[in-house]
Amino acid sequence: TTKALIIPAAGVGSRMQKNTPKPFLQLENCTILEQTIRCFLPLDGLQQIFVATSESFLEKAESILGKMLPPQINGRCLVGGKTRQESIYNALQKVSETDLVIVHDAVRPFVKLQHIQKCCDTAEEYGGAVLGVPAKDTIKRIDDQQQIKETPSRKFLWQTQTPQIFQKALLVQAYNQAIQDDFVGTDDASLVERLGATVKMVKGDRSNFKITYPLDLQLAKLLIKKDG
Ligand code: C5P
Repeated sequence: TTKALIIPAAGVGSRMQKNTPKPFLQLENCTILEQTIRCFLPLDGLQQIFVATSESFLEKAESILGKMLPPQINGRCLVGGKTRQESIYNALQKVSETDLVIVHDAVRPFVKLQHIQKCCDTAEEYGGAVLGVPAKDTIKRIDDQQQIKETPSRKFLWQTQTPQIFQKALLVQAYNQAIQDDFVGTDDASLVERLGATVKMVKGDRSNFKITYPLDLQLAKLLIKKDG
């Protein structure tokens, strides 16, 4: 199966309390973005990589990607949008023919190849698949007064990570429909779910956490040190 990878890296990182966007922060010897891209390079059938960044980090992203691409992979950086969804939509317009499109956040640099592969196989079979882990905390639904309205059974609650992987035609249809309906989701699967299509949850592990808060960055730096 042929695969294209889209990496949204155009967030401003408001929750990190730093001026540099998270993907461009340094982990030991390389940036978070570089470490993330590296996770995918050994993936069988990977032919295209797109990185969406803000305008001011486009050049930096191009230099990072340019240095690490093997000859069989086409790489391209582009300007993202105001939301994650818009950034991915922009990238999706540039994807040429491929079986699967893989979307992976620039800020999850510890995803394991075996989990990416399992997720690809599942997407190939069912149409869509996302990596996740069972929720460890009890999750409450609240109202705008912070009053608890509901406690859904934890048995059926999973935290969704990326990669989120789809057959290309399905993902394109989902993004076009979302635009038409003015629907904005926080992940890719939610757009595909709206079509009534099947998206499977694939069990990964907690090392694939998203670097969002300062504590996450500290953990990432410790993990990188440990692995050399
Ligand atoms: O904001 P959130 O943590 O959900 O961001 C997930 C990923 O989406 C990050 O890698 C971030 O850089 C990216 N993003 C983007 N364009 C935006 C907002 C976020 O590419 N406008």
